[in-house]
Amino acid sequence: MKILVIGTGYVGLSTAAVLAELGNEVIAADIDRKKIEGLNNGIMPIFEPGLKEMVQRNVRENRLKFVSDNKKAIEHGDIIFICVGTPPKDNWETELKYVENVAKDIAKNMSSYKVIVHKSTVPVETGDKVKKIIKDNIKENVGFDVVSNPEFLREGTAIEDTLHPDRIVIGADSDKAIDIMKKMYYPIKSPIIITDIKSAELIKHASNAFLATKISFINSIAKICELSGADVEKVAEGMGYDKRIGRTFLNAGIGYGGFCFPKDSQAFIKIAENYGYDYKLLKATNEINEEQKKNFVEKVKKALNGVDGKTLAVLGLSFKPDTDDMRFAPSAYIIVELQGKGAKIRAYDPVAMEKAKNILSNVCFCKDPYEASKGADALLILTEWNEFKEIDLKKIKSLLKNPLIIDGRNIYDINAMKNEGFRYISIGRKEVFPK
Ligand code: UGA
Repeated sequence: MKILVIGTGYVGLSTAAVLAELGNEVIAADIDRKKIEGLNNGIMPIFEPGLKEMVQRNVRENRLKFVSDNKKAIEHGDIIFICVGTPPKDNWETELKYVENVAKDIAKNMSSYKVIVHKSTVPVETGDKVKKIIKDNIKENVGFDVVSNPEFLREGTAIEDTLHPDRIVIGADSDKAIDIMKKMYYPIKSPIIITDIKSAELIKHASNAFLATKISFINSIAKICELSGADVEKVAEGMGYDKRIGRTFLNAGIGYGGFCFPKDSQAFIKIAENYGYDYKLLKATNEINEEQKKNFVEKVKKALNGVDGKTLAVLGLSFKPDTDDMRFAPSAYIIVELQGKGAKIRAYDPVAMEKAKNILSNVCFCKDPYEASKGADALLILTEWNEFKEIDLKKIKSLLKNPLIIDGRNIYDINAMKNEGFRYISIGRKEVFPK
């Protein structure tokens, strides 16, 4: 099928690559010329496992093309995906101007029937707005349908999630559009949910709000574990066996970050407010998430009797492993707070250091965990990269000034750390001291 994807962020680029991989003729458009130039030369704007190879293969085999002028590309697409950014405004409402501008462009430049699909996370009723914009700007006698097909991919596993999603949601009010979408998704063997447009839009926001709440829930339990002497890992394991609960997304830590949960939960509170509903549950989810980062800073300060003049080694900067994304990364908040209290930071991250340099200052970026640990008063783990789980702890101990690890992601076994001779502080578990 002939497909146009407008916007080449995480969602657009993964969608374009996977749809080309499935055999479609895909054009991906973005107004950022530099990005398009890079993509045409095989340079990816983001780090995402498997993406580069898939893009290069499909470009080589002529199924995928990148252009910076979407107006010319509109005729190509029988299906047009709107995957442009929906950033937060200052008051956390969703900025829809990019979606609206693209809708206008599509309307003005199409001369045959199109299925116009919005994939970005948007407030409920955005489909109606898009429909109206297109109706108001379209030439006479040209048909179209609007579909909501929200994306559920996670950064770090974007390709895998797009190829094998848990479900495909198609929100539409036309059988013709539903048939076209089903045909396009035919090679992907995942359950398809057909619904109205508003419900599809809400499925996305509700899913992210639920997942964020699940994380804040376990973080609140972690706090009770710390106060009572219980172990949050065991509590999560015991809860997780209940099929109604499940073990995933019950990892206590330093709070959720990234460009989705923080902004989507705030946007959803606003959406509810605009309908006159005070979304207390989601407000509490956000508050607990903010507290979680503050609690970690307090833990570090308490463990070292203040951090003024102390050197801290930080392992992990990205908001989660397998991505270089620093947007709303808890590490940024924690580092800035500790610097404000006089700490010097030596940091290492396998891929996020370049992006971190744009938002952090006075940080000594190191070539590996060992260089970062040299002479530090404590080692902080802020992202659970696999390579940190395999680290040579004996070497780390010999490099640190104090054998102190404060782990915001619970990546080590507390007894193993005790046996290795560390004072080890983690989240929702007992503090242990060297044997
Ligand atoms: C999230 C959703 O998981 C996707 O389904 C959704 O499509 C995406 O947002 C989006 O709306 O675009 P993502 O932000 O890439 O995906 O990352 P997640 O893997 O969900 O992690 C989000 C944050 O939660 C990370 O900071 C992570 O460290 C934290 N987290 C996750 C925890 O603290 N504990 C957990 O148990 C799980």
